[in-house]
Amino acid sequence: MKGVVLAGGLGRRFDPVTRVVNKHLLDVFDQPMIYFPIRTLVKAGITDVTVVTGKEINQFRELLGDGHELGAEIRYAVQDGELGISHALLQTEELVAGGRVVVILGDNIYQTDISAFVRRYEEQQTGAFVLLKEVGTEDAKRFAVAEVVEGKVVDIVEKPQEPKSDLVVTGCYMFDDRVFDFIRTLRPSERNEYEVTDLLNIYVREGTLHHDVLAGWWTDAGTPPSKLKASILVALQKGVTFHR
Ligand code: DAU
Repeated sequence: MKGVVLAGGLGRRFDPVTRVVNKHLLDVFDQPMIYFPIRTLVKAGITDVTVVTGKEINQFRELLGDGHELGAEIRYAVQDGELGISHALLQTEELVAGGRVVVILGDNIYQTDISAFVRRYEEQQTGAFVLLKEVGTEDAKRFAVAEVVEGKVVDIVEKPQEPKSDLVVTGCYMFDDRVFDFIRTLRPSERNEYEVTDLLNIYVREGTLHHDVLAGWWTDAGTPPSKLKASILVALQKGVTFHR
């Protein structure tokens, strides 16, 4: 099983901070944001990791090098432009080379050890797997929302105005070796991105998207408020106390 961390995109929500530094190199409490998804993969036994970056690839090379400090063997792929999560994943096709892949978005922070889910996916014959998390309705509008009927995901909608559930699709995806062929069939969305939600819905329609619901905390760190929340959650987990 190979791993991919997607750290492309322009980080516009952090402008002007991200004019010179890539969003994924900013701090979450006391570590660079990108350490978290890489460590999540390594902890699950996935050490062959491809990091997809934008044009700031040298910033990543300087920080991460070959990955040995984090227990990984890191390779790099570059995404030209901000054409979406599926497009970023497509850039790893040669490095992933026909196997199964666990993808984590570079701004997603998981408290939970995902090892058990990876092991479960390894036993799944075919298809894809996602981790859902229950959030409040207002928060749900910021993410992809899954409609679940009788234990099965029947539809996923990206950033719905009126979410059909409180279950959002977090940024950890497991795909079989057909994923790159499926990406090639996608068309750009209204915001001109090759959406991960469109990719997942191919598996939904095929009846091969499986899921589980996370119990531990999870957050993205892709906006200033959510990055602050991520820092606080990580600090609390490390036993930091805040004094007035
Ligand atoms: O955090 C989970 C959510 O992430 C999911 O629920 C959504 O379905 C998914 O679309 C995504 O939503 P965001 O609006 O948070 O995506 P964002 O554009 O912030 O991208 C998240 C990460 O994906 C980003 O940190 C780097 C990577 N990315 C994104 C784009 C658009 C790339 O590598 N290349 C890209 O072109």
